[in-house]
Amino acid sequence: MKLKWGIIGCGGIADRRTLPGMMLSETSECYAVMDANPKAAEACRDKYGAKFATTDYNEILAMPEVDCVYIASPVFCHKEQALAAAKAKKHILLEKPLGLTTEESLEIIQACEENGVKLGVGFMMRYHAYHQAIKEIIAKGTIGDIVSMRAQFTCWYPDIEGAWRQDKKLSGGGAFVDLGVHCIDLLQYISGLQAVEVTGFSATQTFNYNVDDSTAMVMRMSGGALGIVDVNFNIPDSAANNPLEFYGTKGSIIAVGTLGQEEGGNVKILACPEDTGYDAKQSRITVEPIELKVDFGNMYTKEIDAFANAVINDTEPPVNGRNTLSVQKIIDAVYTGGGGKIN
Ligand SMILES: NC(=O)c1ccc[n+]([C@@H]2O[C@H](COP(=O)([O-])OP(=O)(O)OC[C@H]3O[C@@H](n4cnc5c(N)ncnc54)[C@H](O)[C@@H]3O)[C@@H](O)[C@H]2O)c1
Repeated sequence: MKLKWGIIGCGGIADRRTLPGMMLSETSECYAVMDANPKAAEACRDKYGAKFATTDYNEILAMPEVDCVYIASPVFCHKEQALAAAKAKKHILLEKPLGLTTEESLEIIQACEENGVKLGVGFMMRYHAYHQAIKEIIAKGTIGDIVSMRAQFTCWYPDIEGAWRQDKKLSGGGAFVDLGVHCIDLLQYISGLQAVEVTGFSATQTFNYNVDDSTAMVMRMSGGALGIVDVNFNIPDSAANNPLEFYGTKGSIIAVGTLGQEEGGNVKILACPEDTGYDAKQSRITVEPIELKVDFGNMYTKEIDAFANAVINDTEPPVNGRNTLSVQKIIDAVYTGGGGKIN
């Protein structure tokens, strides 16, 4: 038996990635779809074999057959739709970010807890085979204690009239909230360290919209390591590098091209020989990098299956509201005061 899903928001991410991922899932099927735009809803119904298409999410929430909903609407819709879904006792996989602010995010988490429904969050990059492998290598101590790490994620996103992402009231912010959330979540998740304090700068350098096209931020992690996140909407895709880097007292792990919507990229591990000693000449003996090999899959199928299994087995979804709330707190801290303590 497969769980029956209602889809709320049939736009870019749902149609391009999550629904194709769901089609490969053995736990889930697309039962009903909703979009404010009837053409988008009907197109997804036909493409993914759903039984119903509607422009009213309440119709989906009223269907007894629907076990869970995937909310992939613009961020300003998340709170209203998630609260209604929780009240209707539907389990919720909510796209990132949870809400426009920490306050909204907390309301969503609490509504799910009060109504006894599961809440998963769309940080699918945790399921990338390389990210899982890097997490294991770090946990084994191969690169020693993490002292520094960095995630840079960029794209080219020029002014587009009417785009909800380019209006702070509708999106909550720009590059930092759109791309930075993945970077913050991954650095915390893979390292196993939590940010305790952050400081950062946001700017709109290139475009005319009222959200940031550039943000750079440093996190002080529990234990003292430093984590850097820099994100841009104003670097051409062909000039992008999108590195994810971890440096420790015994080595480093450098991933390139793993941040994105498809499993790919490459990862090199530099594990240093025991106690290299102090080299005043800094002649930097060469360590042969080990190229990490993994089997790629579909992050969205894994995301759907992990959430569905939590519903089926009545366990906590691995990526949930509580264990991602700190991401929203960090976003708010940088946007509202340039940083601060995170608790
Ligand atoms: N995890 C990821 O990799 C990833 C990638 C992109 C977007 N997202 C997230 O997914 C969400 C949607 O982003 P997108 O890029 O798909 O946006 P989009 O603009 O491409 O699509 C949004 C869809 O929602 C519809 N819509 C508008 N108002 C609505 C409403 N009130 N109720 C239901 N549907 C409504 C639009 O018609 C459109 O089809 C956002 O939260 C975004 O941050 C996640």
